[in-house]
Amino acid sequence: MAPTDSILQGKYPAKAHCAKVAAYLKEKAPHDSPSRIYLQGQKTRMIEDNDEPVPFRQRRHFFYLTGCALPDCHLVYHVPTSHLTLFIPPLDPSSVIWSGLPLSPQDALQKYDIDSCLPSTELHDYLSRKTHEQVSFEERQNTPQPLTFADKRHLPEDQFEQSVFLPWNLDTLHEAIDECRVTKDAYEVASIRRANDVSTEAHIAVLKNLKYAVNEQELEAMFLERCIALGCKEQAYHGIFGSGVNAATLHYQANDQPLKGRANLLVDAAAEYECYCADVTRTMPLGGALYKESEEIYTIVQSMQEACLAVLKADVQWEDVHVIAHEVAIEGLLKLGILKGEKKDIFEARTSVAFFPHGLGHYLGMDTHDTGGHPNYEDTDKMFQYLRVRGKLPEGSVITVEPGVYFCRFIIEPYLKDEKQKGFIDEEVLGRYWDVGGVRIEDDILITKDGYENLTTAPKGIDEMKKIIDS
Ligand code: GLY
Ligand code: MN
Ligand code: MN
Repeated sequence: MAPTDSILQGKYPAKAHCAKVAAYLKEKAPHDSPSRIYLQGQKTRMIEDNDEPVPFRQRRHFFYLTGCALPDCHLVYHVPTSHLTLFIPPLDPSSVIWSGLPLSPQDALQKYDIDSCLPSTELHDYLSRKTHEQVSFEERQNTPQPLTFADKRHLPEDQFEQSVFLPWNLDTLHEAIDECRVTKDAYEVASIRRANDVSTEAHIAVLKNLKYAVNEQELEAMFLERCIALGCKEQAYHGIFGSGVNAATLHYQANDQPLKGRANLLVDAAAEYECYCADVTRTMPLGGALYKESEEIYTIVQSMQEACLAVLKADVQWEDVHVIAHEVAIEGLLKLGILKGEKKDIFEARTSVAFFPHGLGHYLGMDTHDTGGHPNYEDTDKMFQYLRVRGKLPEGSVITVEPGVYFCRFIIEPYLKDEKQKGFIDEEVLGRYWDVGGVRIEDDILITKDGYENLTTAPKGIDEMKKIIDS
C-alpha cells in the first residue's frame, strides 16, 4: 500500500493536536494555563429566507482538535489526563426519515481519535459536574466573578463558549491553534499530498481537453468532474480559469470567456481532501496569437520558481526567497527589453512590483491561505506588503511557491506616468505583451531540515504540458 494510503487509513491525530495546543498554552503561561479546553464546532446554518442549510464547512480550529467534520458538535479536552470528549447531536427520530441515521457515539469512537463520545444534550451537565477541576481559565484570581454553570445553561451557545474561556478569552486559544497549525505532522502532509494527487488528475484532464474546448467554463467543468469522481467534493478555493488578458486578474472568477486567439490559459485550481487543501497553478499554452511572447514570460516565471526552490530548507528567511524571485524577474524582463536600466536601480525603485505584485507564497493546510504567517499588510515597502508569510520557515511547514509575471494595465499604467518609474520601462516593448495577461506557476512545498519536498505533481514546463495536450 502506498504510504499516503496507509497513513490516511489511520485516524486523524486529534489528541496529538490537543496536546500540542495545550503545551503551547503552558509555555505561554506556565502557572496559569487551562486544565480544560472547550470548543464548539460549526453549527448548522440556514440560507436566509430558505429551508436549505448553508453548505457546511467545519470550523478549522474544531477540526484540528477532533478530526470531526460534523455539524453541531462540541469538544472538551482535559489537559492533565489528556482525555478528549466529543459531543455529537443526539438521534432525533423525527429527522431519520429525512436525513438517515446520524453517526452513533459507538461509530464516533471507532472513527475519531477520541476517548469518549456523548450526546450534546449532556454537555452542560458534564461541565457542571467537573467544576472543581476544570476551566481554569475562569478560576484565576483578580478577575470578574465568572458566571456559574447554572447561569450558563441559559446562555446562547456562542456566549457559553466565551464564558468558559474568560478571562483567557478565545483569542488566546485561537492564537495557540493558529501557531500549532504551521508545522504539519505525517497525517496532515498525507492529506495535502492526496489533495495534490487528485488535483494533478484534474489538471491533466484540462490539458487533454485544451485543444477541443472553446470556452474557459468547459475546462472548469472538466476539472470539477475529475475532483468529485476521485473523492474530493470540495474545492480548496474558487478555481481560476483565465485565458489571455483574464490571467492578469489575480483572483479572476468569471471563468466564462472564449479561448479563441488567446496565447495561454492560467489555471489556478485545486481540490480539498478531508479539510486539507492543495493550491496549484499551471499556465497552459493555447497556441493562439502572441504565443512566442507567452512562452518568453513562461520561461522567466519558471526561472523565478527554480531559483526560489533551490534555496529552500528549514529556517530560510522567506523575505530573502521573495527577493530572489524579484531579482530573477528583473533579469528576465531586462533581457526581453520590457525593463531598461541597471538591475540594482530597478530593484531599489521596486519597479518589478508592477509585474509581480503579490507575495511569493503562503502557508498551506486546512486553509488555502493558512494560519501563522504573520503578514504585514501595512508594510510601506511595496515589495513585501502582500507577502503572507514573514520570517523563517520552520521544518515541517508547507508553503506555496507561486511566482508570477502579469500585464495588468491598472497596476502598470501608473508606473508609466510616474517620473521615477517610467525611465525603467520600455513602453513600446511592453505594448507587445499586454494580451499575454499573466503567467503564474504554483507548487506546494514541504520544508525539511536540509531542503524541501515538492508535494505538487501536476505536469509542469512547456514541453511536458505540450506532450499531454498533443497526446
Ligand atoms: N489560489 C489562491 C492563491 O494561490 O493564493
Ligand atoms: Mn496560493
Ligand atoms: Mn493558487
